[in-house]
Amino acid sequence: MGSARPEDIERVLLTEEEIQQRLREMAQQIDADYADRDLLLVGVLKGAVMVMADLSRALEHETVAMDWMAVSSYGSGTRSSGVVRILKDLDTDLSGRNVLIVEDIIDSGLTLSWLITNLRSRGPASLEVATMFRKPEAAVAQVDVKYVGFDLPNEFLVGYGLDWAEKYRTLPYVATLSAHLYA
Ligand code: IMP
Ligand code: MG
Repeated sequence: MGSARPEDIERVLLTEEEIQQRLREMAQQIDADYADRDLLLVGVLKGAVMVMADLSRALEHETVAMDWMAVSSYGSGTRSSGVVRILKDLDTDLSGRNVLIVEDIIDSGLTLSWLITNLRSRGPASLEVATMFRKPEAAVAQVDVKYVGFDLPNEFLVGYGLDWAEKYRTLPYVATLSAHLYA
């Protein structure tokens, strides 16, 4: 199990138990909504790896397929620009499929709104979004998200797929980082 040096963690916002409990609730809702339809989960690398693995296994749906995309947001600094480049495209033809995008976190929502437009143009029967975490600013981009795990404060977070320079992604909980790391 992933761990961090205690002095690197400022505050745990969500424990492993809270995340796993919420995932089970989301899975029940998704099972009910897709009871009579196929389901294709589309994960966005790399952050969504944890939620994809746990959510997909919590589903009781019998025909869950999985595919992955990797995208990179152009622009400098830590804010995404909304201009997105595909680093790895899907292997699956989306036409007629019921697609559920699986995201780790929606921050500005710019990456996601680009992705929705892109995937919608491929002719899926339906297209919805599930995200484990969402920050308040996501409201600005007006992305319609059907399944949300937790709304979180506008702070930089690590764990459960969220990284800081590729570190702390494997933590089973979500936390803020100590100020000494930013110094
Ligand atoms: P946006 O919604 O286009 O602004 O970008 C969302 C992406 O930014 C997520 O998929 C994460 O990869 C990354 N991100 C946003 N907030 C955080 C955070 O607090 N910690 C780590 N990565 C984050
Ligand atoms: Mg991401």
